[in-house]
Amino acid sequence: MLKSFVILFAFLASASATASHYYVTNNNTGLTCIILDGDFQFNLVFNEKNTTEKFTVTFNETVSVEGDCNGVRNNQSVQTLNIKFNPEGQSARYAKEWELDIVFGSSSNVAFEIIDYTLTTQRTDLVPYFGKFVRDANAAGDVTATQTNAYKCSTAKLGLVGGSTIDIKTSNVIAFAQMNGTVFPTDQVYEVCYLDARTNEVVPIVVGACLAALVVVVLVGYLIGRARAKRQGYASV
Ligand SMILES: *[C@@H]1O[C@H](CO)[C@@H](O)[C@H](O)[C@H]1NC(C)=O
Ligand SMILES: *[C@@H]1O[C@H](CO)[C@@H](O)[C@H](O)[C@H]1NC(C)=O
Ligand SMILES: *[C@@H]1O[C@H](CO)[C@@H](O)[C@H](O)[C@H]1NC(C)=O
Ligand SMILES: *[C@@H]1O[C@H](CO)[C@@H](O)[C@H](O)[C@H]1NC(C)=O
Ligand SMILES: *[C@@H]1O[C@H](CO)[C@@H](O)[C@H](O)[C@H]1NC(C)=O
Repeated sequence: MLKSFVILFAFLASASATASHYYVTNNNTGLTCIILDGDFQFNLVFNEKNTTEKFTVTFNETVSVEGDCNGVRNNQSVQTLNIKFNPEGQSARYAKEWELDIVFGSSSNVAFEIIDYTLTTQRTDLVPYFGKFVRDANAAGDVTATQTNAYKCSTAKLGLVGGSTIDIKTSNVIAFAQMNGTVFPTDQVYEVCYLDARTNEVVPIVVGACLAALVVVVLVGYLIGRARAKRQGYASV
């Protein structure tokens, strides 16, 4: 049990070491407003010629990162992150980059939240289709935090129209921040996403149940052994 936990932690640590790191800095103030760390995975659904085809595409390398700490959209203050990147499975034949646009908003209730996103994909060796995927308004996104906290999730899901999703694994996100530096400070406070918070409740319950079962097994074994010993004791009298 202990060993498996150690392995799990080692795995988590190595997984987070490979994560992509993005930030947007305000040129006027020198302060960073957005930091997004994580590993992107794109689960894409294409409906072509009556058939539905699904592809899982991972990220290979960043081409360029742009952003704006002082954007405006529908009279609302927004901050944007635009990432151009190459997915895995790209070749000289299909060399066009993919593009991900993320828009953060802020309100009286939350310090920041992802309010919109768009993914533009191109044909690759692995995916014979291209498309523009937009946010599914019905998808329950929870990439948000209050005060000066950041958001943390083992897999943040951004739902797209048509059943596709953008997964950000081992994600750490903050926006509408005023940070001196381009990485999360060591004393950063994180708000854990809903799914992880529930898992954190479940793990101790499962561990507790296993321990309780072990105690019962040992106790029953002891009682059986004692009963047997007693019977043998009587027999030998
Ligand atoms: C901010 O500064 C960087 C580096 O000096 C420059 O490349 C970029 O164009 C600037 N952005 C804006 C919005 O002025
Ligand atoms: C697509 O589906 C329709 C109705 O189910 C069918 O009539 C048509 O032949 C199908 N077309 C192809 C290319 O499979
Ligand atoms: C933005 O605000 C201005 C002035 O308050 C208003 O005239 C305009 O219609 C608003 N635009 C949108 C898109 O809400
Ligand atoms: C990732 O990018 C590098 C450099 O462009 C390329 O050599 C490599 O083949 C790519 N890997 C995959 C799996 O597409
Ligand atoms: C950021 O930190 C450096 C070193 O601690 C300091 O010199 C600089 O003034 C700070 N900048 C801002 C905008 O606070």
